[in-house]
Amino acid sequence: MIKKCLFPVAGYGTRFLPATKAMPKEMMPIVNKPLIQYGVQEAMEAGMSQIAFVTGRRKRAIEDHFDRTYELEDQISGTKAEKNLEEIRLLMQTCTFSYTRQIQMKGLGDAIRTGETLIGNQPFGVILADDLCIGDERPVLLQMVEIYAKYQCSIVAVEEVSPQETEKYGIISGKKLEDRLFIVESMIEKPPAGEAPSNHAIIGRYILTPDIFENLRNLPPGRNGEIQITDALNVQAKKKMVLGFQFRGKRFDCGRLEGFVAATNHFFDLMRANGTPH
Ligand code: UTP
Repeated sequence: MIKKCLFPVAGYGTRFLPATKAMPKEMMPIVNKPLIQYGVQEAMEAGMSQIAFVTGRRKRAIEDHFDRTYELEDQISGTKAEKNLEEIRLLMQTCTFSYTRQIQMKGLGDAIRTGETLIGNQPFGVILADDLCIGDERPVLLQMVEIYAKYQCSIVAVEEVSPQETEKYGIISGKKLEDRLFIVESMIEKPPAGEAPSNHAIIGRYILTPDIFENLRNLPPGRNGEIQITDALNVQAKKKMVLGFQFRGKRFDCGRLEGFVAATNHFFDLMRANGTPH
């Protein structure tokens, strides 16, 4: 039903310097698979096979990752190592990949606005690959597609965080619609502990209706002088329904060292338990 998924990947990844000095943050591996591949896999499992990247300078490795590597593939053809390419080959057969560049890092909202040229006038998914999500039973973006099928409106994934952590996230306030689902009344970007209207933090999964682009175009810079997607969603929530969805599953914040290491341990244990080669 929703065919396109946007990946804003233009950020500098300063929290991972020096690793991200010349390499995109999204190419950092969790065990032997780059973060971005987990994200694209989730999009594919949600039925979104048209993958759109908003990239920036120094991000060429992402394009190369989703392309053939003839010399290497020829070299390992018929060997044990070929098995390690099975997943990425399936992604490359199933999906198409398109790219546009964000010229200046003016915030996530600006990155999403830049993606309009690849998305056009249709609802779309957004994945921030540094939030690595593992859904209970079904992938998180697929859970959101199922809600979209019922309500046909923008949906943000939310997670309960501790009161001390609200200052790291966009926080929603709203009315409960059904189990795990809230009608968003407003969103505040990174409220200090004690000033947050709830503990429901927005994480890096969205389904957006295309009128969001119009809202983004008309926005003045918000917090930190950046164009904030939460500001555009606030405008949208005043005109029509926007939902907050408390997804079923687990999230690792791989944009921070602690989350990155926790995800690595999780997937390494999983691989060992499955006896998967690495
Ligand atoms: P972050 O806030 O995590 O920023 O962006 P960052 O640059 O990636 O990392 P740090 O904070 O410097 O370590 C959230 C998401 O939005 C994208 C990033 O690539 C990331 O996926 N983004 C952010 C853009 O594409 N463009 C921007 O201008 C800002």
